Amino acid sequence: MRQSPLVVVANRLPIDDSVAPDGACEWRRSPGGLVSALHPLLRHTPATWVGWAGGTGPAPHLPDVDGVRMHTVPLSADDFRDHYEGFANATLWPLYHDAVEQPEYHRRWWDAYQRVNQRFAEAAAEVAEPDGLVWVQDYHLQLVPGLLRRLRPDLRIGFFLHVPFPPPELFMQLPRRAELLRGMLGADVIGFQRAQAAHNFAQLVAKVLELPATDRQVTVDDRVVRVGAFPVSIDAAEMAALAARPEVADRARRLRQDLGEPEKVILSVDRMDYTKGIEQRLKAYRELLASGDVKVRDTVLIQVAVPSRQRVAQYQILRDRVEHQVGRINGEFGRVGEPAIHYFTQPFDRAELTALYRVADVMAVTPLRDGMNLVAKEYVAARVDDAGALLLSEFAGAAAELEQAYLVNPHDLEGLKRELLAALRATPEDVTTRMRAMREQVRRHDIHAWARSYLTVLDTGGALRDRLVPAD
Ligand code: ADP
Ligand code: G6P
Repeated sequence: MRQSPLVVVANRLPIDDSVAPDGACEWRRSPGGLVSALHPLLRHTPATWVGWAGGTGPAPHLPDVDGVRMHTVPLSADDFRDHYEGFANATLWPLYHDAVEQPEYHRRWWDAYQRVNQRFAEAAAEVAEPDGLVWVQDYHLQLVPGLLRRLRPDLRIGFFLHVPFPPPELFMQLPRRAELLRGMLGADVIGFQRAQAAHNFAQLVAKVLELPATDRQVTVDDRVVRVGAFPVSIDAAEMAALAARPEVADRARRLRQDLGEPEKVILSVDRMDYTKGIEQRLKAYRELLASGDVKVRDTVLIQVAVPSRQRVAQYQILRDRVEHQVGRINGEFGRVGEPAIHYFTQPFDRAELTALYRVADVMAVTPLRDGMNLVAKEYVAARVDDAGALLLSEFAGAAAELEQAYLVNPHDLEGLKRELLAALRATPEDVTTRMRAMREQVRRHDIHAWARSYLTVLDTGGALRDRLVPAD
């Protein structure tokens, strides 16, 4: 087994096991922030990505991609149901997102979570070089740092949580809360999106494990575990370069023509997830149409909502409700050839998505809770013309950085309508001033800056950090 100096461990691999007709395998930019963030970072580095290829059954062998080795961890049908759909996405996901849907607790799911975490830890232990660095990602794998440390005490181990970490009163619901915290503490560095999450973690560690903990470090078994906020980001330069390509600008112009040259285009791009606030947004739009503040010929809404975790009941219910709402709004307010909402559930390639960003006068990103929301940052990076207004939920991690957005509380329907109208009616000068400031923020705090700041803490020697992310 070949070993690597850097190993990333994430539930999902960035490519799936389907092979193109010519036999080649390509990166699959699956809709999801984790892959979007890590893919540009790892390209051309001597790394191995340990993850799951998306199916059930034996692990397919995947070729290296852009110099990064793919090491597949298999999930059986039972693992898929009880670990991925169950404990990860029906217990932890809703609990960590303010319990906007009711988390479910089942002992069988916990057994599967432990079993699958053990398998990921063993895979990482196998492929990491002596004294190497292993970077474990996200809520599916919170036990891996502890399990891995037992198998390979020589490694430096990082853990990063892409989703919010909840306040103690919610986390305390978890029947196996102590084990989850102890699992994370196997890492040398634990990173969160926001300082509040690090604070929640420190409070819980002190309360549940009775360990000395501050928002910056925890002492466990005579080891110091560093804790901190590292807001994740995107490859802003890559997005800006793509957006500046003449064919993308042309595509944006043609899209506008195809939409009937409306005065204003509103765009939303989400995974179909109940955390994204899609229903509240559609309701606000419907009320604005009903009151006449927004008129179909002048304004259109494009809603892209790519299906996700489709066998989980809450996701099925959401999709049905969203599609019912879209149908109802188009039925009531659309005209022949002029729907009020253009609705897509397809994955788009990067160029098409970027053209959509460039055509959107208002980008509506209104999750009820979101660890970061990279769509908001992609939109900002794509507006190389300094135009476009961002309507952004206060409850997205991105709101801490994109202060010049039109910030909203998505639970407040009147506020949502008011800010959407403000964004639609903003003067070009106001839009430009805000967008310029936000672009500068995203340019300076891009994915390379994120990796540099994390690896500066994790990779104490600095050798890997300098290879992975050269200094500015
Ligand atoms: P989450 O991680 O919860 O899905 P983010 O907004 O952080 O939310 O990340 C979503 C990522 O998925 C972004 O990089 C976005 O470009 C991508 N994405 C979302 N919808 C689509 C789609 N229909 N086609 C292609 N990529 C998509
Ligand atoms: C969020 C999570 C990721 C996950 C992604 C897509 O971004 O933080 O860990 O990969 O959603 O979800 P999926 O269930 O399709 O992997």
